[in-house]
Amino acid sequence: MQLSVVILAAGQGKRMNSDLPKVLQPLAGRPLLQHVIGAARDLRPTNIYVVYGHGGVQVQAALAHEHIEWILQADQLGTGHAVMQAMCVIPDDHTVLVLYGDVPLIRMASLTKLVAAADAGALSLLSVNVDDATGYGRIVRDAAGHVSAIVEQKDATPEQLQIREVNSGLMAAPAGRLREWLLGLGRNNAQREYYLTDVVAGAVLAGDRVEAIRCANAAEVMGVNDKIQLAQVEALYRRERADELMLAGATLADPARIDIRGDVKVGRDVFIDVNAVLIGSVRLGRGVKIGPNCVISNSEIGADTEVFANSVIDRASVAENCRIGPFARVRPETILHHDVHIGNFVEVKSSEIGAGSKANHLTYLGDTRVGSGVNVGAGSMQHYLQLRWPKQVADRDRGPRLHRFRQHAGGAGSDRRRRDHRRGIDHYPECPGRRTHADACPADYDRRMEAAA
Ligand code: UD1
Ligand code: CA
Repeated sequence: MQLSVVILAAGQGKRMNSDLPKVLQPLAGRPLLQHVIGAARDLRPTNIYVVYGHGGVQVQAALAHEHIEWILQADQLGTGHAVMQAMCVIPDDHTVLVLYGDVPLIRMASLTKLVAAADAGALSLLSVNVDDATGYGRIVRDAAGHVSAIVEQKDATPEQLQIREVNSGLMAAPAGRLREWLLGLGRNNAQREYYLTDVVAGAVLAGDRVEAIRCANAAEVMGVNDKIQLAQVEALYRRERADELMLAGATLADPARIDIRGDVKVGRDVFIDVNAVLIGSVRLGRGVKIGPNCVISNSEIGADTEVFANSVIDRASVAENCRIGPFARVRPETILHHDVHIGNFVEVKSSEIGAGSKANHLTYLGDTRVGSGVNVGAGSMQHYLQLRWPKQVADRDRGPRLHRFRQHAGGAGSDRRRRDHRRGIDHYPECPGRRTHADACPADYDRRMEAAA
C-alpha cells in the first residue's frame, strides 16, 4: 500500500508564549518539526505533506531545504480540519499516517505498527498509559475493552478525567475511509474545533475496526505544548543520545551532562568529560579524549587526539594524536595534520598545520599554511600580525633550517624597532610592513624559498 504522511504543523502554540511558531521551537538545536519530518522519512512514504498556517512564512523558510509538500490551512479550525486540507490531494487507495509537528521523539517501530494495522483496513491509533494525563485526550473503551471514542480533556466528564490511557494524537487509516469519517466531524465541543480525535467515534459508528496500539515508551509520544515540556523532551532526547554513545563504546563522565545536538559517531574507548556540547555531524575516532566544557561542531577528530578543557572546535578536520587546548579555538576550514599541538589561547582559522607542528601559546593563525615540524613560538600580540600574512609556508622537508620559523615574543630590541617604525625609521626597507626582526616577511620569505629550491 502506498503511504502518505500528513504532519500537522499549523497551530499557533499559544501555551509557548513565544514569537517563534511552536513547531520551530528548537529540540537539540533543530526545529521540532524537522525531527518529525525525519521520523516520517524513515518510513520511505510516497509523499510527506506538512499542513502549515500559523507563522507560515517563518515555518516554510526554516524548512525550505526539505523535500515536502506544503498544504495551507488558512484558518486553524482544529486538527480534524487540518487533516481535511491534505485529504484533497491524497488518493483513496493510499494509507494515511497522521503525525503531529509537536510530538518529536516518535520512533520508527511504533509508526510501522500503526501503518501495518491501517494497511489491514483498521483505524489505528497510538495510545499510552501515563501517570499525569493533563492536557491529553482520554481513550474511552467499552465494556468489552474496545475503543469507542477519544474525549478531549476540556470535554471530559470527571470519570473520564480519571482515565490514564491517553491519545498520542498519531493515527493511521485507509485514505478512503478517513475521508468519509472526516465528513462527519462537527465543532460542537468546548474549543469549537473540528477534532481529529472524533473520527474514532465516527469509525465505530460506521462499523469500522479501531485498533489502539499501546506504546510502551511514554517519552516517545510526549507532546510539546509549553516551555516546561520542551525542556523535558530535550532532557529525554539528550539521554537517548548519551545512551547511544555509551553503547558504541564511549565513556561519559556524566551522561546527564552532555549535550548532543546532531549526528555524533564515536569510536571505541572515547572519553568525554562533563559539559561537552557536540553539534551537527561530529566524528570522534578511537581513544579520543574530550575535556570538560568543550564545544565541538561539525568536525572530525582522529584517533587518540586529546582536547583539553574549554576548547572550541568548529568545522575543522583534526588528525590523529593531536593535543588541543586548554582554551583553544579551532575555527572553520582548519586542517590539523597528525601530532599537531594547539595550546592555550591559540586561535586557528582557515589554516592548515602540518604534521608535528606546534603553536602552544597565545597565537593567532589565520589563512595560513604551516608546514610540518614547525614550532610557532610563544606569542604576544605581534604574532597576531606576523602570522596573518596569507599563505606562509614553512616546511622542514624543503630545507633543514631556513624553512623552519621559530619566533619568540618581542623583546626590547623589537620594541625599539617598532618605535622606530612609527617614527619612520625603517629597519627593513626591502620589506614593507615588516617592523621587527621577528615579523615574518612574505617577500623575504619567497626569496629564501627560491634560494633554497
Ligand atoms: C491533541 C489531541 C489530543 C492528544 C494530544 C497529544 C486533538 C483534538 N487532540 O491535543 O487528543 O492527546 O494532541 O499531544 O487532536 N494543529 C494544526 N491545525 C489546527 C490545530 C492544530 O495543524 O487547526 C497542529 C498543531 O500545530 C500541533 C498538532 O496539530 O502540531 C496538535 O495540536 P494541539 O493544539 O497541540 O493539540 P492538543 O491540544 O495537544
Ligand atoms: Ca499538543
